[in-house]
Amino acid sequence: MEIGDWRATAELGEVYRAARELGLETNIAELEAFGFTIVEPEKAAPAGFTDRMLEAVLALEAREAPEVVDMMNRPQAERPVYGRSLFRLPAKDAVFAEACISPVALTLAKYMTGASNHIYNSAALLKRGRAGVTRMHCDSVGFPPPLPPYGATCNASWILTDYTRETGTFFLVPGSHRYCRQPGPMDLPEVMGGPNDDEIGIPLVARPGSLFVFSGNLWHGTYPKEDEALRVHCAIMYARNYVFPGESFADIPDAWVEQHGPEFARLVGRNAWQGYGDEGPNVMNLAKVQRATVTPSA
Ligand SMILES: [Fe+2]
Repeated sequence: MEIGDWRATAELGEVYRAARELGLETNIAELEAFGFTIVEPEKAAPAGFTDRMLEAVLALEAREAPEVVDMMNRPQAERPVYGRSLFRLPAKDAVFAEACISPVALTLAKYMTGASNHIYNSAALLKRGRAGVTRMHCDSVGFPPPLPPYGATCNASWILTDYTRETGTFFLVPGSHRYCRQPGPMDLPEVMGGPNDDEIGIPLVARPGSLFVFSGNLWHGTYPKEDEALRVHCAIMYARNYVFPGESFADIPDAWVEQHGPEFARLVGRNAWQGYGDEGPNVMNLAKVQRATVTPSA
């Protein structure tokens, strides 16, 4: 059917039309049903885009101080994952800013978290050599239970190397986005420090260049990494407007923000209506959020 300029679903209509034009309707159905989807490299981005992203990650790895970002240098209790995690990507290289606003990723993220969404956090996750598992969790970390039945956050992960069971890929529990809670010890007791269990989970198998998008409610972890190769993906997490962001982009130069346009500006928190002082909220900025929810866009 034709998706009209319906006032009751103005924001959704616009996002859905964009999804249809980009050929993403099946991906939306998979997100709804299973809580995750894989966009194949040919559809996710123009040829060469994720090659640029991998180059940028390796350059960033070389120039950032390991004591800041290498989880292996931290005490066990502060070490949720193996390998290096490089944060605040949109502030550090143009290719990451482009990833945030890439039509496919942003359209799926807006479908999941609304057209007034913003970046919650971002990380390039690198593993070299063998590594243990990341325990099963969902990315709504710190959210008081119960979790909302819709996604308050959504993870768009750009897969930059081969992701298979042997290379320590993601472990997923299809449909677990509907459980609306974090997994507890009773859900998978054997995972506590041991290998993830195959009974309820499946491995994500994805080629380099794929875009793996999943609900912030989806239960996932990782398999042990059993080879010596480099494993890298870049996770960009988007959140609904009211979710307090994990990363701050307040120090990004205005010129950098302007270079990447108004969608990027919103995503990094420019012109947010929240955070006002005695002068009260900026009504124009508040109106933009309201327009995204109740009126058709011109
Ligand atoms: Fe996670």
